[in-house]
Amino acid sequence: MIHIKTLEDIEWIRESGRIAARTLDLIEKRLEPGLTTEQVDRLGHQFILDNGGVPSTLGYRGYPKSMCISINDEVVHGIPGKRRIQDGDVVKVDVTVYKNGFHGDTARTFIVGTAPDEAHRLVEATRKSLELAIPIVREGNWLGDIGATIQEYIEAQGFSVVRNFVGHGIGREFHEDPQVPHYGRRHSGRKLEMGMVFTIEPMINEGTWEVKILKDGWTAVTRDGKLSAQFEHTIAVTKDGPDVLTLSD
Ligand code: MF3
Ligand code: CO
Ligand code: CO
Repeated sequence: MIHIKTLEDIEWIRESGRIAARTLDLIEKRLEPGLTTEQVDRLGHQFILDNGGVPSTLGYRGYPKSMCISINDEVVHGIPGKRRIQDGDVVKVDVTVYKNGFHGDTARTFIVGTAPDEAHRLVEATRKSLELAIPIVREGNWLGDIGATIQEYIEAQGFSVVRNFVGHGIGREFHEDPQVPHYGRRHSGRKLEMGMVFTIEPMINEGTWEVKILKDGWTAVTRDGKLSAQFEHTIAVTKDGPDVLTLSD
């Protein structure tokens, strides 16, 4: 069942989303080779608390940390720990904040130092695929239009769209209906309605879209060991079209 949000609900989600976005701004400024992912997690954790929020991932289904940090072939749900960030790493950071009863969820990919052109091309294509999908978020369009837009663009670039993880409704719960696939066919799935709020979070792989889960039970990695990138926004369907709720200002 899809929970339709009021204009007031949407402002609360925007507040949580803004804190999540500012957490990523801070992390982007501080990321450098030699830092452990745990140190990055601590930095973001404290910033979220200082802004009156709580990290949604901490304790979520037993998840132990305040954000997800996934490096290179890690697709999503990397658990911060002792691993040190290195020059050339493709670092995905996914932050979700809970405040005033509502969640806001956003992720970005950062390239640390010098990386091959192909890594830059992958990250820019992933960013662009989310950018292309946002204008589709309008009443009367279909959920499948979002996935089709992303898939067509990404496959034309020679990359692949991860199937196993999808965007999701968000609000009072971290993950609500509907599911938002980043692949699919136009005019399929549900129709978009005013007051829906959901994430779009394409995970794009350099090689195969297939992933496997590591023994920690969380970290998803590409099956072929090639790179993966991701960007995520939380977006509302309003009478004026898409409203991105995870901006810094
Ligand atoms: N933030 C992720 C998402 O975009 C979910 C992380 S759940 C966790 O939906 F438990 F792995 F943290
Ligand atoms: Co999400
Ligand atoms: Co997220």
